Amino acid sequence: MAKNVVIIGTQWGDEGKGKVVDLITDKVVSVVRFQGGHNAGHTLVIAGKKTVLHLIPSGILREKVQCLIGHGVVLSMAALLKELGELKAAGVNTAGRLRISPACPLIMPYHIALDNAREARRGKAAIGTTGNGIGPAYEDKIARRGLRIGDLLDEKTFAEKLFEVMEYHNFALENYYKTKPINYQQTLATTLEQAEIVKPMITDITQQIHQHISNNENILFEGAQGALLDIDQGTYPFVTSSNTTSGGAVTGSGVGVTDIDYVLGIVKAYTTRVGGGPFPTELKYDVASDSGDEIGKELGTVGQEFGATTGRQRRCGWLDFVTLRRSFKINAVSGICLTKLDVLDGLKTIKICVAYELNSKQITEPPFDAKGYAAAQPIYIEMPGWQASTVGITNFDSLPIPAKNYIQKIEELSNLPVDILSTGPERDETLILNHPFSE
Ligand code: GDP
Ligand code: IMO
Ligand code: MG
Repeated sequence: MAKNVVIIGTQWGDEGKGKVVDLITDKVVSVVRFQGGHNAGHTLVIAGKKTVLHLIPSGILREKVQCLIGHGVVLSMAALLKELGELKAAGVNTAGRLRISPACPLIMPYHIALDNAREARRGKAAIGTTGNGIGPAYEDKIARRGLRIGDLLDEKTFAEKLFEVMEYHNFALENYYKTKPINYQQTLATTLEQAEIVKPMITDITQQIHQHISNNENILFEGAQGALLDIDQGTYPFVTSSNTTSGGAVTGSGVGVTDIDYVLGIVKAYTTRVGGGPFPTELKYDVASDSGDEIGKELGTVGQEFGATTGRQRRCGWLDFVTLRRSFKINAVSGICLTKLDVLDGLKTIKICVAYELNSKQITEPPFDAKGYAAAQPIYIEMPGWQASTVGITNFDSLPIPAKNYIQKIEELSNLPVDILSTGPERDETLILNHPFSE
């Protein structure tokens, strides 16, 4: 029997989703992106060669796999063409392998201008967005004034709609944000030029997914960001503007709820976050001034925690089970893929947050917004580290006993199996204990 598997990040993103998607796509016909946009940065390392994907599904390096972009994704044609160019230069054949839903909202230059103007206006309270226009593009979609990929098929109507929407946004850019408006003629010309390359990729993705299901073919749904960045369930307002949780696979692609067979929750062996917002288990360290927490420094250095999209330093901290337990439930996680275990190799002691103290009370369910998180104090349990290398280990028995104990503790606290273990960035530095596509 074929299976439909969803992969999602259970923390604040950058858990290693791209690596794992690439790893298990040898078993599928299609990989589907269903939310987010080029704010994502998914890193694949194969035989020492690194590829970072932002918008193109992480199945692109497997020649026989089709890559589908569902209508839940906000699409920048400029970003797409740049990425296709980079893949081509690296010798990857993408011809005919990428298909895009006509219902994808377009990210346009004014969305980027608005994103940056809003962040500047927020000052110290900035969200720390990727500056890619993600939020404003989703706003236009929800406001029912957005332009979509399919609109490009009728140039005259597209030009009219674009004029209207640009008049609206340029008014805000000029009069409210006091910045430069975006030129209409130039935007139209560039967009129509880009459209010539993108139009042949337009496909009814929903229908294609249903076809795969009737053909009894495996599909993988690739989440971007992480559950704590979810617009509804995350640390609002320090979130992204889409549903990053597994339900997003349903609304953002057209697969039916009951057609999903398995959800793989990617859990980094510690926690990272990039951008602003609360982070209860953070071990604050600043690269620029080389000051702050020594363990925070070690995690960031050994784990090379710099953003794959913006290059920003990622904030690091301990694993947090208050948020993880919630994340497992809202995503209906079937099994865990634990990544970057090797980054903990040098630590003498490892902490796991199991509860928060908030207003002198102990809580095990997360607060509903950023304010609550900011006031929460983590309560930890401690475990001995292993202080030995686990890099590249692909056999469970070869793991040091304290590392096995750490994994077992994670299974116990989550009441879920660790089905995949990742011990390095390379595709084959992985231990598959139970394959998500196995019968
Ligand atoms: P994604 O956004 O979830 O796909 O994750 P990113 O690619 O942004 O960040 C994960 C980073 O960790 C990338 O640089 C990966 O190459 C790397 N990585 C993934 N798994 C492992 C692992 O098990 N160990 C180590 N050391 N690095 C890993
Ligand atoms: P992947 O898929 C980590 C963060 C930004 C910012 C917030 C809002 O690689 O895990 P946005 O540009 O989306 O409006 O920014 O969300 N963010 C991510 N953080 N990994 C990502 O993607 C992210 N995509 C967005 O840093 O805090
Ligand atoms: Mg990333």
